[in-house]
Amino acid sequence: MPHHPVVESVRSGDISIITLSNPPVNTLGRPARRALLVELERAENDEAVSAVVIAGRNNFSAGADLAEFDSGEGLAEPTLHLTLTGYLDTMTKPTVAAIDGVALGGGLELALACSARVAHPRAKLGLPETTLGFMPGAGGTQRLPRAVGIEAALDLIVTGRSISSAEAETLGLLEAVDPDPVGAATQLARRLVSAAKPRLRDRAIAEPLAEAFVDSAKRFAARNPKASAGVKAALEALRSAVTKPFDEALADELEFFVRLAGEPEARAARYRFLSDRAAVRLRPVENVPDVTTAAVIGAGTMGRGIALALLSASIEVTLIDTDADRVNAGIAAMTADLDRAVARMRLTEGDRDAQLKILSSGVGLEKAASADLVIEAVFENLDVKRDVFRALSDVVRPDTILASNTSSLDLNLIAQTAAHPERVVGMHFFSPANIMRLVEVVDGGDTSPATLAAAVKVAKRLRKLPVVAQVGPGFIGNRIFDQYIRQAQLLLREGVSPQQIDSALERWGMAMGPFRVLDLVGNDISWMARKAAGGAGEDVAWQIADALGENGWFGRKSGSGWYRYGDDGSAGPNPDLTELLASFTGPQISDDEIVRRCILALVIEASHVLADRVAATSADIDTVMVNGYGFPARRGGPWFFAELTGWELVQLLVKRWRERTGDSFWSTADLPLTEKNAS
Ligand code: 3HC
Ligand code: NAI
Repeated sequence: MPHHPVVESVRSGDISIITLSNPPVNTLGRPARRALLVELERAENDEAVSAVVIAGRNNFSAGADLAEFDSGEGLAEPTLHLTLTGYLDTMTKPTVAAIDGVALGGGLELALACSARVAHPRAKLGLPETTLGFMPGAGGTQRLPRAVGIEAALDLIVTGRSISSAEAETLGLLEAVDPDPVGAATQLARRLVSAAKPRLRDRAIAEPLAEAFVDSAKRFAARNPKASAGVKAALEALRSAVTKPFDEALADELEFFVRLAGEPEARAARYRFLSDRAAVRLRPVENVPDVTTAAVIGAGTMGRGIALALLSASIEVTLIDTDADRVNAGIAAMTADLDRAVARMRLTEGDRDAQLKILSSGVGLEKAASADLVIEAVFENLDVKRDVFRALSDVVRPDTILASNTSSLDLNLIAQTAAHPERVVGMHFFSPANIMRLVEVVDGGDTSPATLAAAVKVAKRLRKLPVVAQVGPGFIGNRIFDQYIRQAQLLLREGVSPQQIDSALERWGMAMGPFRVLDLVGNDISWMARKAAGGAGEDVAWQIADALGENGWFGRKSGSGWYRYGDDGSAGPNPDLTELLASFTGPQISDDEIVRRCILALVIEASHVLADRVAATSADIDTVMVNGYGFPARRGGPWFFAELTGWELVQLLVKRWRERTGDSFWSTADLPLTEKNAS
């Protein structure tokens, strides 16, 4: 049980005001549900009380506690939430919900079971369950259509979007909008004392074509491959709402909800929700510097994207390069990007102008002199980067934070050249940096806690998802992804075509198959990196990729690579590559095996990353792969996938591949290694 009271109750005359107090967002976990039920019973049985107001401190309620479902407690008691809403239905005294902040999911369902609802103008209301792989389970599919009509209920439940108080009032979801919701709810409760108690469950769904509306939505969902199991089940429950008596339909909702909540898709969605938010929980640090001005060194692909991300968070930016032409090209590309955003109505003209106003540029590192934060995005070359950090130290303030966007170099070797290595940190953005959410924040050997916290804070201000990584080759993501690419290369040697590998993995859910990714990034980059590191050495896996480099088949930019590209950008097989691959043959390999081998390669390397403590938790690794590498969110992440598969089966598969290929990579030594036993 939490130490603070999860529910507080005070009296205003004959009105009992019950306030949920379960920070930060008043989720309705088991203790909160129990405490609320106890208070409601007390009010119902207290003769001095004639009506009840239910409110929430700061927020009304964000609904069910998503962590509870998988703790072994949530589904053991699926009906308590219903008991609560059911109890509200049986109460003889009127109840009014006073909504501030959010009323989402089970929170809104609680409000729907009250006699009436009042909300603050800033409140947000919605049933987001279908976006979490499942569906409302405490009467939402039954009471919402009775409050707002079937069309609006279909829209809100299928999209999961939240709406403003103003929209909710128009739809009939709220009786009033008031800047003092508790005061207004108290008055309304008093007025309801002498009236017949309104209950949504008694209200009919007025639309005579309600069934046709639901069936039409069902047909649409059946044809739409993107419609989730949650949406389909919610539509079934809505069908019950329009065809069956309330209690029977409510029982259907509960049955669908319980079935879906335990399915892998819903489990993965909850895991993603909680892991994304848990990724950066740093120990509290005092005196975290604020960043209002930044300099970006290098006006290339990454520098431009990083600068755009900073501007969008109203941070002043100076873009710096070695000559005026490069600077100007960078500014022109950024301006074009902002203009495109205006043309697509993603940005107002006013916002574009405001962003351009705080953008400046120039040649030479002196231009970075006044910045609170410098982000370096020059060529991926250790000597160049070391020179930049050495020279920067002469021009910036001693308290300026210096961040490197290196994707593979040793941050500590770069930091050594800075006057204050404790102020050096890695900020590894992903391309395009103004769009991709992931940022690996790299904690160097000398990075101070305040510097690390400042980098995390900036990343969050840019609305990114920071994950802390320690220094190591490829940090978290590139190191793991490399092994996935390597498996794809080895499959080629067993006679599988790039097309089969890409389409198997794309069908499974990867945003792009490995060979399409390689062609997009450019096959020259990894080829040069391998050459710089002294060649592929003993590992035959990279021989075919090296041949592509030698032939100049760099991918999209050269017109051919793992595919051949038409002038319109369309991709087809590359006949020269087909010829090159003709000598590689083997027994047919199924799509399932391709997927398992590539995905479990991610898991094996993830276990080494954990053992080396480069990542703090397996959930962080999953967060990196989903948000930076196109791993399907609905599958949770590679580690989550391995857990669902079951470690026993994973071990058997790994042993089999070891025997068949002789590849020492397939080792079960560290499996399953979790944050709990990574000691
Ligand atoms: N369960 C558990 N934890 C939750 C939660 C939930 N439903 N909603 C929020 N939290 C936690 C977050 O994990 C985070 O924890 P942290 O402080 O330890 O990192 C904290 O609350 C604050 O959340 P955010 O960082 O997301 O804060 P924001 O201010 O950006 O957003 C919010 C607040 C709009 C409430 C957002 O958190 C949200 O959308 N929450 C989910 C709401 C939801 O989907 N509810 C439906 C649940 S399913 C249900 O109710 C089933 C029912 O039908 C029976
Ligand atoms: P790029 O080649 O497009 O741009 C680099 C820019 O830096 C060029 O404009 C160059 O003139 C400038 N530059 C070089 N030396 C400089 C110096 N001494 N002072 C000022 N400017 C200098 O390179 P890109 O792709 O933007 O990469 C930059 C960095 O970001 C590299 O470290 C790379 O590894 C990293 N990165 C790249 C990703 C990508 O997908 N391209 C993804 C994540 C990180």
